[in-house]
Amino acid sequence: MLAYDAAVNASDFVIDPRESGFVRLDVAAMFGNRNRVVLEIGSGKGRFLISGAIEHPDVNYIGVEKSLHYHRVIRDRVIKRGLTNVRLINHDAFLVLRDMLPDGSIDEIHIYFPDPWPRKREQKRRIIRAEALGEMRRVLVPGGSGIFVTDHRDYYEAAAPVIEQFFPSERRVPGVGDPPRTNYEAKYREEGRPIFEVRFVRAGGGG
Ligand SMILES: C[S@@+](CC[C@H](N)C(=O)[O-])C[C@H]1O[C@@H](n2cnc3c(N)ncnc32)[C@H](O)[C@@H]1O
Repeated sequence: MLAYDAAVNASDFVIDPRESGFVRLDVAAMFGNRNRVVLEIGSGKGRFLISGAIEHPDVNYIGVEKSLHYHRVIRDRVIKRGLTNVRLINHDAFLVLRDMLPDGSIDEIHIYFPDPWPRKREQKRRIIRAEALGEMRRVLVPGGSGIFVTDHRDYYEAAAPVIEQFFPSERRVPGVGDPPRTNYEAKYREEGRPIFEVRFVRAGGGG
């Protein structure tokens, strides 16, 4: 048996709503603590999630990834690193937001290079859409924040005003010196593509 098998098993950190049903999670019970919770939607190969979880062992990370292939890549990385502050859900993020995450349970939402669905008739599938943003506002704690990043100018131009309907937000262009957070960001930076970002905050955090 490989050494890292002993530390963490997939059944400890993979939440499968096909088995458990779309029930509201008790996030503190799930992690066994009340630490801050970061949600990543569309984690891909998991660069942001894994490096964040390693650097911040006192922060909890939930990665929602629709593709089974990428979910398995991240799952294996979590096992290899023996990470105990990560939970993974291999499902559509909108349903996870709507049916599984409780009100005020998430401190940060990160969305890097989500599928842009460029065709008009498919745009209703975009994760940045009104019904999904309503759920993001509900699940964020007051004062919680979010980041949406894309290389797709049309998606950005459509998404930024929708985000502004739900959150105080700021449009920005990442600096050339900012380290890439995900594989797609690294790849697109190398190609010299422009990258667009919107940061948003759920009002009500005080201070
Ligand atoms: C273009 S990739 C970006 C991956 C990663 N965020 C990065 O920046 O390297 C988009 C990812 O989002 C996932 N995805 C797309 N729609 C999703 C959804 N509705 N729920 C969860 N994941 C989704 C895809 O499977 C894919 O892994």
